[in-house]
Amino acid sequence: MKDIKKIGVLTSGGDAPGMNAAIRAITDKALEEGIEVVGIIGGYSGLINDKIIPLTSEFVNSIVGLGGTRLYSDRCLEFKTEEGMAKAIATCKKHNIDAIIAIGGDGTFRGATDLSLRGIPSIGVTGTIDNDITATDYTVGFDTAMNTVLGALERFSDTCESHARCNVVEVMGRDCGQIALMTAIASGAIAVAIPEVPFNEEEAIERIKKARAAGKRGMLVVVSEGVFYDEGNGIKVPYGEYFRAKCEAETGVETKFARLAHMVRGGHPTLRDRLTASRMGVKAVELIEEGKSNLVVIEEDGKYVPMDIVFALTTDRMYKNKLKDGDLDKYSAEEIAQMEAICQKRRDEIEELYKIANDIAI
Ligand code: F6P
Repeated sequence: MKDIKKIGVLTSGGDAPGMNAAIRAITDKALEEGIEVVGIIGGYSGLINDKIIPLTSEFVNSIVGLGGTRLYSDRCLEFKTEEGMAKAIATCKKHNIDAIIAIGGDGTFRGATDLSLRGIPSIGVTGTIDNDITATDYTVGFDTAMNTVLGALERFSDTCESHARCNVVEVMGRDCGQIALMTAIASGAIAVAIPEVPFNEEEAIERIKKARAAGKRGMLVVVSEGVFYDEGNGIKVPYGEYFRAKCEAETGVETKFARLAHMVRGGHPTLRDRLTASRMGVKAVELIEEGKSNLVVIEEDGKYVPMDIVFALTTDRMYKNKLKDGDLDKYSAEEIAQMEAICQKRRDEIEELYKIANDIAI
């Protein structure tokens, strides 16, 4: 087993509240174990461009409660090339970096796999507001993002109530509707549209009409950014904007539209995110010490456990119907059944929540 003397930490992809708490946990745990820690600035591009800083306990403890990522982030295309990869490996060699912990989403984990395959043991820690990595119950940043959305929805609700309006609010989440779904339930929204379940537009319109007839003044409709209206001829428009006009025209209720966009990614991480980031970060360091590589720390029924990155990414593609030819070839029937069970667990959860959202939206 390789003796680990120095590890590098990076954050990559969309920033997520709690990434700094993960950096802190990784650094303090490693220092405690006598392992030196360096920060890689700007995600994988920092590895390519040799942007390395020492991480001290003093520095990481000053950032534990901050939003964003103080190691900065990007989505690095050059890292996907052989040339970029060679530069990254050269930087690791130059700084005697024995292993990498990469905090981010699926793109980040693909990078970690590439490094692992080239002899730099790498471990992933999940960090994305979307909670869209099927293999883990939870990703760092999700709770903060939902609470930020909820705070915004409550403000929209105040003004809707005053003016007897409806507000259609689009929230982030990429192809995953969980932020929209959970905040719709928590805010008392009258309807929610997510990519995972076909939206019954007519039913929503009828519900709004009925609610107004019964005297309801303010109403919220939460729409995930991954839902689109197909205008035909290959033109798709964001569903929330389309539904605003439709809702106003068909219900007679004055209807506004708002897109929360990137504000959802900012802000101080909640306790849940700091705690999960800390537990995942510590686990990642332990895995490195055990000589493990190419794993991602996932949350499974309240436990923080390692999963093979390729297995996790393949499960994710299975859930999203994006499996490529040969993806499942190396897996046994038992492993494939395990992947299917993970996907089903996610589908069941979404279905249950969607039903609740509609059952109590009156
Ligand atoms: O993955 C996090 C996320 O905020 C998504 O919800 C969103 O679709 C995307 O990133 C936005 O990416 P960018 O910051 O590159 O605009």
